Amino acid sequence: MKKVKKLVVGNWKMNPVSLEEARKIVGTVKRNMKNIKRTEVVFCPPFVYLSPLSKAMKGSLSLGAQDANSETAGPFTGEVGHLQLPQFGVKYVIVGHSERRNMGETDEIVNKKVQSVTSLGMTAIVCVGESSRDANGEYLDFVKQQILKALKDVPKKSFENIVIAYEPIWAIGAKQAMTSLDLHEMSIFIKKVLKDSYSIASDGVRIIYGGSVDRVNASSLVKEGNVSGLLVGRQSLESKDFVEIINLVDAQ
Ligand code: 13P
Repeated sequence: MKKVKKLVVGNWKMNPVSLEEARKIVGTVKRNMKNIKRTEVVFCPPFVYLSPLSKAMKGSLSLGAQDANSETAGPFTGEVGHLQLPQFGVKYVIVGHSERRNMGETDEIVNKKVQSVTSLGMTAIVCVGESSRDANGEYLDFVKQQILKALKDVPKKSFENIVIAYEPIWAIGAKQAMTSLDLHEMSIFIKKVLKDSYSIASDGVRIIYGGSVDRVNASSLVKEGNVSGLLVGRQSLESKDFVEIINLVDAQ
């Protein structure tokens, strides 16, 4: 598989409240991307901002959606379809974020979405992660099952359009991220699952981390945690902090 860039993804969730604010964040990051050579930065804004922001995306700045429906078209009031996204330059789609799973998204729905996103040539950022940890390591099997169910029947050629985002639920929106040491263990584990189950080489699928990433922990999470990038929530709305995080990742 071809060598790919590191990845910093900003998941804005249901923020910011105005398009003006959204444009400001993207503008600041764009102005500070000149020296960024080895990292792709992806903004995942709410749907309504995708079209107005699409023109601002160029070079290593890309657009992603936070979710979408895998049905082609039809009577699905309130939904947006995967098929509607590429015309706005959307290259990435987050799939199976814990906040969506919490609203009833099952492993089967996640799997359908992964298949639909990748078949359209976009990259699926597949979110996995346990809600809590136990002394017996059962959370490892939980994460493994989430991965296997999400990737069921996905053709091997589509794996270059897959990113695994490990986001332990207990570290999302929390005061602190997980430790780099624990992340390192998990990234090795996920690589082993991908190798054993799909014969994917260790750098064949990018693994990124999400959960309370900030400018203080970003560097060590990527370097010592042995991941290819970060999925950033709150700090992706703070443009200066986000720029710093991007620079720290690019320096690794
Ligand atoms: P925080 O960075 O705000 O903890 O959010 C993480 C997240 O859920 C990104 O998808």
